Amino acid sequence: MNDIDARELRNCFGKFATGITVITALAPDGTKIGLTVNSFSSLSLDPPMILWSLDKRSNSVDALKAAPYFAVNVLASDQMELSNNFASPSDEKFVGVDLIDSDYDLPLLSETVAYLECKNSGTYEGGDHLIFIGEVVNFKIGDKKPLLYANGQYAVAARHPGTKLADPVIGEKASSDDFIIPLLLRSFWEISDPFYQELLDAGIPVAHARILVHLSHTPKLTARQIADAIRVDIASVSMSVSWLCDNGHLTKLDNDCLILSDQGHILLSDVQCRAERFEQEVLDGYSAEEIDLLKSMLRKLIYRKDV
Ligand SMILES: Cc1cc2nc3c(=O)[nH]c(=O)nc-3n(C[C@H](O)[C@H](O)[C@H](O)COP(=O)(O)O)c2cc1C
Repeated sequence: MNDIDARELRNCFGKFATGITVITALAPDGTKIGLTVNSFSSLSLDPPMILWSLDKRSNSVDALKAAPYFAVNVLASDQMELSNNFASPSDEKFVGVDLIDSDYDLPLLSETVAYLECKNSGTYEGGDHLIFIGEVVNFKIGDKKPLLYANGQYAVAARHPGTKLADPVIGEKASSDDFIIPLLLRSFWEISDPFYQELLDAGIPVAHARILVHLSHTPKLTARQIADAIRVDIASVSMSVSWLCDNGHLTKLDNDCLILSDQGHILLSDVQCRAERFEQEVLDGYSAEEIDLLKSMLRKLIYRKDV
């Protein structure tokens, strides 16, 4: 070999972002075979053909060469665990894995983005790998987001911010989905309603939580000042403040200003932990770039006088 560094070459290959598939088949003795593969590629439309390559050191080489059919299961963004499972040498890869029916008796993974059932058309030599060619005999597409692999890491797909959204049809009236205020309101309700319900179920009314959060940023405020700042009526804020004082979460100073007690800080960190976990759930499936863009747009809207 020339002076190409194998590790660097691997890193270079990794710069090419791919989806992730699990190739599955039945060995001649009926054993299910499956391994994670990102070397999959479409090959031909007519006839319909695909290819992928297999490391010659794989435990599954002989069984896959002998299998008359194999399936390409294209993983969805919520199937990272499946990818890791099928990327490790084990006899128990299929334990607890949900399968769906196949006309070709193939182990098809459920809830994938798509699958292709292929007739095994043979292999070609490809250095330390074998190139498998498959003739597509059946396929199905779902509507989930694909799991990606780029730079040696799992990733999710997002529309590039530089691409334009489809233009609205000329002459069509703008729907409420085209105006920013209804969009902001609806997204707020969609996210906040279940979160506030979770807080309530934990015995923390939303007004309590908002008062604690606000006082942690700006201590020593009166109930009136808090009400103005968080835009909640003074009667509700006064009731919450009384409860929080009576239960030791807030301390009232001589000038009626309020500060968080140690107990208040504990309740606040409970609220913040719940909020962090909830936010992770809400943002699951969005890329880091999308999340950064959303946050920066919202900050620009909030502080628009300053930008
Ligand atoms: C993201 C990812 C992509 C992979 N792509 C391939 C591939 O294209 N070909 C291959 O032979 N192994 C690939 N592997 C490694 C195999 O999944 C892994 O070696 C597996 O254990 C082989 O199956 P075996 O246990 O039957 O040998 C990949 C692993 C990961 C995590």
